[in-house]
Amino acid sequence: MTAAARIGIVTVSDRASAGVYADEGGPAIHDYFAKALISPWEAMARVIPDDRELIAETLIELADGEGCCLIVTTGGTGPAPRDVTPEATEDVIEKPMPGFGELMRQVSLAKVPTAILSRQTAGIRGKALIVNLPGRPRAIAECLDAVMPAIPYCIDLIEGPRLETDPAVIAAFRPKK
Ligand code: MTE
Repeated sequence: MTAAARIGIVTVSDRASAGVYADEGGPAIHDYFAKALISPWEAMARVIPDDRELIAETLIELADGEGCCLIVTTGGTGPAPRDVTPEATEDVIEKPMPGFGELMRQVSLAKVPTAILSRQTAGIRGKALIVNLPGRPRAIAECLDAVMPAIPYCIDLIEGPRLETDPAVIAAFRPKK
C-alpha cells in the first residue's frame, strides 16, 4: 500500500492563533484537498502568528521533519507591517517558483482589484513544494483552482508521491512522456 502523501496546511494569523477568531483558512484548504484528491493523503495543520522566524521554522519542520510533499500557507501575504509570509517562505526555499504567484494574482484580479496587494509566492525546499495563499477564505479555492492542475506534476518532478486528482473536480495535467 502506498503511504499517504503528507500535506502541510499553515494558517498564518496573529488573531486566529490567539483565538480571537476561528481559523477558517486552514479548514478551507483541508476541504479543498478532501474534494480534489483521490490518492491517499493526510493533513499536518498548524495555526501560527505572523512571525517570520516561526513561519520559517514551521515550514522547515513540515518539509524536513514531517516529510510533507506540499505545504500550503494562508495569510500574511499583504503589505501590512506584520505580513511576512512571503519573506519567511523565501528564507527557506531553495528554488523560487514565480509562476505560481503570477498566475494566482492574475486569476484573482478577475475577482477583486486588491488581488495585486498579495505578494504570495511559491518555491521548492528539498522534496516539498511550498505555496502561499492570501488569508481570505474565499481566495483559497480561487487560487488553488488556478495552480492545482500543475501541482501533481511538480511533485513528480521533485520525486514526491504521486498525487491523483478527481477529474470531475480538478484535472491534473501531466505532459505525456
Ligand atoms: N485573492 C483572491 N483570490 N481573493 C481575495 O479576496 N484578497 C486580496 C489579495 N488577494 C484576495 C486576493 C487582499 S484584499 C489582500 S490585502 C491580499 O490578498 C493579501 O492578503 P493576506 O495579507 O491576507 O495574505
